Amino acid sequence: MPALVLLGAQWGDEGKGKATDLLGGSVDYVVRYQGGNNAGHTVVVGDQKYALHLLPSGILSPGCVPVIGNGVVVDPAVLLSELSGLEERGVDTSKLLISGNAHLITPYHTTMDKVTERFLGKRRIGTTGRGIGPTYADKINRVGIRVQDLFDESILTQKVEAALDQKNQILAKLYNRRAIAVEEVVEELLGYADALRGYVCDTTLLLNDALDQDKVVLFEGGQGTLLDVDHGTYPFVTSSNPTAGGACTGAGVGPTRIDRVIGILKAYTTRVGAGPFPTELFDEDGEKLRTIGGERGVTTGRDRRCGWFDAVIARYATRVNGLTDFFLTKLDVLTGWESIPVCVAYEIDGRRVTELPYNQTDFHHAEPVYEMLPGWSEDISGAKEFSDLPKNAQAYVKALEEMSGAPVSAIGVGPGRDETIQINSFL
Ligand code: GDP
Ligand code: IMO
Ligand code: MG
Repeated sequence: MPALVLLGAQWGDEGKGKATDLLGGSVDYVVRYQGGNNAGHTVVVGDQKYALHLLPSGILSPGCVPVIGNGVVVDPAVLLSELSGLEERGVDTSKLLISGNAHLITPYHTTMDKVTERFLGKRRIGTTGRGIGPTYADKINRVGIRVQDLFDESILTQKVEAALDQKNQILAKLYNRRAIAVEEVVEELLGYADALRGYVCDTTLLLNDALDQDKVVLFEGGQGTLLDVDHGTYPFVTSSNPTAGGACTGAGVGPTRIDRVIGILKAYTTRVGAGPFPTELFDEDGEKLRTIGGERGVTTGRDRRCGWFDAVIARYATRVNGLTDFFLTKLDVLTGWESIPVCVAYEIDGRRVTELPYNQTDFHHAEPVYEMLPGWSEDISGAKEFSDLPKNAQAYVKALEEMSGAPVSAIGVGPGRDETIQINSFL
């Protein structure tokens, strides 16, 4: 079973970091294929807690090679500081590999992200302000800067000039900001070249060779299905493809090589930033989920919006990703409710709808139709087997599985590596 994709089935923060880290001990490579340091993946190992933004969560497993694929956008300053932070804590980062084709986030991308958001005013997306959208926009506009450009000063200068020509006009004339000097940017970027050179290689060749040799490769998504620029709640999305197809383009492997696609699914729902969210709670239950679940953003520190589980979204994630398994996380957070509402369908202008509406206005009007499932009060954080769970918790998982269209193969009952019930092996 050599190639697996692990991705978020909702709006991000489902617990991908924990799930990737859990598998990291049994896989040869963990590859990030899209996004950048907008991601915040928490990994808890014993009494140590790590917050990873750009580095694949496999970096914490000694036998595993972490890879940053071509589809990722890399802020070199963030990358180097994340690496040194881990090294100070005794983590070996020397195996890291970075695609020379990955695009660089430069200071002007971060500036553009922030001014664009400010300009949008109340229509803003609520981005993480990390320059993600503008960097992907430059990539698509063919004025991006790639990691390999760091190693050729003449090409780098020409490319920065081409990118800034237009951007400086926009910054000065539209946003009333100071123009950015080409030399300043080139100098800063060249300053990263020596530190990064040793990590850069042809990751596509490497990964395909590894798969030919039956090595196990895990592709780790950032964000989640509903934040996908094609399949998410556009325009309230990120600017890349966290869905399964993104693993192929973002790492340079063909779809025929992918054996398994694991959707990480929270036992309730959260979202950070603006955009529609049918099961969002504005009452005490929402506050309780936020507090018990520790639902505060790892990257921006913003409170996460919280709501009940939405089976329409889970089914949609199964469909657009071809999910083979779910990893259901944070079941422990639901302990203590007498009964737990689960959204089984939407009511839209008097119609009952069971599939995610493709029409944005319909989705904005969607009212959740809830089914009540009986809750449990026993502490489940020590459960090791499915049968250790109280009957009502078992029934909750089975109901979600039935509604969501793929088997629940693992269940998270706490943030730690060992706080996991493995039902079916992923490998
Ligand atoms: P990611 O972005 O998908 O990697 O998720 P985040 O790290 O942003 O958010 C998930 C949070 O839930 C982190 O604080 C994890 O430590 C925590 N977590 C993951 N799985 C579980 C679980 O099963 N139970 C509990 N209580 N916490 C979990
Ligand atoms: P992980 O990997 C949750 C959201 C932002 C904003 C939108 C666009 O930890 O699950 P961007 O900066 O990407 O242009 O912002 O996407 N967003 C996330 N929400 N988890 C994430 O990552 C996210 N990365 C981006 O809040 O609404
Ligand atoms: Mg996160």
